[in-house]
Amino acid sequence: MNDPVLEIDGLCAGYGAQAIIENISLQLGRQEIAVIVGPNGAGKSTLLKQVFGLNQHLAGDIRFNGVSIVRLKTSDLVPLGISAVPQSSNVFPTLTVSENLEIGTYASPPADKKAARERVLDLFPDLRGKVRQAAGELSGGQRQMVAIGRALMSEPQLLLLDEPTAGLSPVYLEVIFDLILQVRKTGVTVLMVEQNARQALRIADTGYVLANGRHAHTGSGAQLLADNEVRRAFLGGGND
Ligand SMILES: Nc1ncnc2c1ncn2[C@@H]1O[C@H](COP(=O)(O)OP(=O)(O)O)[C@@H](O)[C@H]1O
Ligand SMILES: [Mg+2]
Repeated sequence: MNDPVLEIDGLCAGYGAQAIIENISLQLGRQEIAVIVGPNGAGKSTLLKQVFGLNQHLAGDIRFNGVSIVRLKTSDLVPLGISAVPQSSNVFPTLTVSENLEIGTYASPPADKKAARERVLDLFPDLRGKVRQAAGELSGGQRQMVAIGRALMSEPQLLLLDEPTAGLSPVYLEVIFDLILQVRKTGVTVLMVEQNARQALRIADTGYVLANGRHAHTGSGAQLLADNEVRRAFLGGGND
C-alpha cells in the first residue's frame, strides 16, 4: 500500500459508555475504495460516523494522513480533507440543486464556490440541467448524486459514503457505482458502507465484513466474493 490516508487501530466506539463497535482496525491507501458490509445493526454506520467525529470515542486511534483525529470535531475534519454523505436525509428537498451543492462550501469564498460547483457538475453532468430545480423533485439516484456532489464541494481527500445506493433501482445502482469510480479517478479515497454487498465488493480494493460490531472477515473485494463462508453468511449464498 502507498502511504495510508486512513488508519484505524483497535477502535472502540458507541453512543455512551457502551461500545457498539469493538477493536476495529483497517488501513486505506490513497485512491483506494474500501467497502464495509454486514447485517443491519452491525455497527457500520457507527464506524463511519466515528471517523467523522460524530459519536463517543472509547478506545483506539484513527489517523488521517498520519495524524490522530480522534479528538477532532467534524467541523475541524472538513477543512482537513474529510467529507461524508450520511445514510438518509442527505439533501435539503426544498433547496435547489445549486443551493444544496453550495452548502458543501459554507466556509469558502464565493469565487471558490463557483469553481467547486463547476468541478462537481463536470463529474455529474446529469445535474447540469437541473441546478435550479428543487432537490426534492429529482429521482432517488439524482438526489444521491446531489448528496455526493455536495460532499465533493470541499475537495476532500477522503470521502465517507453510508449506503449510497440504498433504495435505488438496479440501473441507478450501477450508475452510482460508476460515479464512485470516477470520483476515485480524481484522487479521492473512498470508505463506503453498502447493503448491496455483491455489487459494491466488485468495485472494492478492500472489503470488510462487520458483524456484531466486530470484524468478521477482511480481504480484497474479489477474495470476499469468492469466499464460501462469506457468501453463505453475508451475501445470501448463490453464485451471483
Ligand atoms: N444514535 C444512537 N444512539 C444509541 N444507539 C444507537 C444509535 N444509532 C445506532 N445505535 C445502535 O448501534 C447499533 C449499530 O447501529 P448502526 O451503526 O446504525 O448499524 P448498521 O449501520 O450496521 O445497520 C445498533 O444496535 C443501533 O441500535
Ligand atoms: Mg447503517
